[in-house]
Amino acid sequence: MLVTNGLTWKPHTHSGARPDELTKYMRGLFDINVIANIHLFNLFLPLILKGHAKKVIAISSGMADPAFVKDYDIAVGSLYATSKAALNMIVAKFSAQYKQDDVLFLALCPGMVDVGHYDNGTTIPACSEDWRFVC
Ligand SMILES: NC(=O)c1ccc[n+]([C@@H]2O[C@H](COP(=O)([O-])OP(=O)(O)OC[C@H]3O[C@@H](n4cnc5c(N)ncnc54)[C@H](OP(=O)(O)O)[C@@H]3O)[C@@H](O)[C@H]2O)c1
Repeated sequence: MLVTNGLTWKPHTHSGARPDELTKYMRGLFDINVIANIHLFNLFLPLILKGHAKKVIAISSGMADPAFVKDYDIAVGSLYATSKAALNMIVAKFSAQYKQDDVLFLALCPGMVDVGHYDNGTTIPACSEDWRFVC
């Protein structure tokens, strides 16, 4: 079984205020959240195919769920959400290809987890305007 967890995240939006920064940040997101996962899947597949627990789980995000975004008008984190949506599609494509080999590919959202990123901050994300959907 393989579980991929790593991510890069900042609450950047699609704002056009700093286009160069947006482009750089979006490329970085795709490198880590999408392309790195594809490489990981490909590297581990020979072992997965030989193993007993033929499972590949990518930790994704509910932020990539279009219905969630639409229903709750969530603008924050749009670039991160887009990279996770691309990851979801990659997982679906690998699933389509390797289902015949009994490999389960799954993208999973852990829900909201406090991992300490804002321990020293003055703004608690869940209470800020951008994060009102979880308040
Ligand atoms: N926390 C939440 O509320 C939440 C909600 C939905 C989804 N998720 C998902 O859950 C997963 C874990 O997130 P988290 O909240 O636990 O975040 P986290 O505490 O920031 O952990 C992120 C992990 O990714 C690793 N990482 C970052 N860049 C990397 C790179 N280039 N190569 C390899 N590893 C890299 C980090 O390693 P280092 O420590 O060595 O930097 C760290 O272990 C992510 O996929 C995230 O999208 C989290």
